[in-house]
Amino acid sequence: MCISLISSIRRTILICSFPRIMASRQSSDMPKFKEALKSAKEVVILSGAGISAESGIPTFRGAGGFWRKYQAANLATPGAFRTSPSLVWEFYHYRREVAAKAQPNPGHIAIAQYEAKYGTDKTITVITQNVDGLHVRAGTKNLIELHGNLYKTRCTKCKEVLVNNDSPICEALEGRGAPDATVVGSDIPVKSLPHCKKTGCGGLLRPHIVWFGENLDPAVMDKAQAAMATCDICLVVGTSSVVYPAAMFAPQAAARGAIVAEFNIEPTPATSDFHYYFEGPCGTTLPEALAD
Ligand SMILES: NC(=O)c1ccc[n+]([C@@H]2O[C@H](COP(=O)([O-])OP(=O)(O)OC[C@H]3O[C@@H](n4cnc5c(N)ncnc54)[C@H](O)[C@@H]3O)[C@@H](O)[C@H]2O)c1
Ligand SMILES: [Zn+2]
Repeated sequence: MCISLISSIRRTILICSFPRIMASRQSSDMPKFKEALKSAKEVVILSGAGISAESGIPTFRGAGGFWRKYQAANLATPGAFRTSPSLVWEFYHYRREVAAKAQPNPGHIAIAQYEAKYGTDKTITVITQNVDGLHVRAGTKNLIELHGNLYKTRCTKCKEVLVNNDSPICEALEGRGAPDATVVGSDIPVKSLPHCKKTGCGGLLRPHIVWFGENLDPAVMDKAQAAMATCDICLVVGTSSVVYPAAMFAPQAAARGAIVAEFNIEPTPATSDFHYYFEGPCGTTLPEALAD
């Protein structure tokens, strides 16, 4: 496959890639970073599952990356939904319930407070790969949800997208979705899963999430790329930087001269592309970085 085809696929389709290079430690000079942040006019905060880890929401990599015996990322695919919609719905029911009980942590709150304080002087955009809704619940306003939202459904027939906060989302999922590794498969009949209520439709609903192998919404992608193209500073928070297209955003910004600072508990394949690296739980490092 030629390089341009790979990069054009990466531009729109959610894929996982292997580490590009060995990460190396960058500057971790917090006072210097804060000076640069002060003079920035356009700031992007790009977040991933790691920012919600301290709220008790498992990431896809590391110890929390399994649900039952399945690797979580393998259930977030159109193929898994075709093969077993009930198993995938149990997984998403579990994720909806966990996220609904979780609270935004100091990392989410620091971002929302930073926007509230400086959002009139600076353009501050939060681009998240997360689907848990915690940025909104923390108070973030200018938010781009790249991969959808756990509390939205899409009809597989008429394609209608609706907000749905029901718990459980349907009767058959009540008490289901336990992550216990000894539970195998799912015996919920498809007719008992969530279905479209639109007159004359009745199609099977699916989570309105961009699954691995699917295209991102072009309008959402354009908005994110526009913010990335002009920002002076980008904070990359709690993302493994292996899920494309989001993984290419910050390295591209760094390559055109924007200052990029990474906040993670461990180096990622992109760390060596960036100017700053602040190691540690972002519930601790972000409030410090975003405070006056
Ligand atoms: N909360 C969510 O909404 C959620 C949860 C799991 C997966 N996902 C989805 O899975 C895909 C995974 O990509 P990803 O890069 O976002 O996540 P990921 O699971 O691939 O990586 C998580 C990253 O967060 C880091 N991390 C963990 N705890 C941290 C902490 N306390 N502070 C700072 N960093 C921490 C890890 O080292 C890792 O690099 C995305 O498409 C995303 O939509 C979302
Ligand atoms: Zn429908």
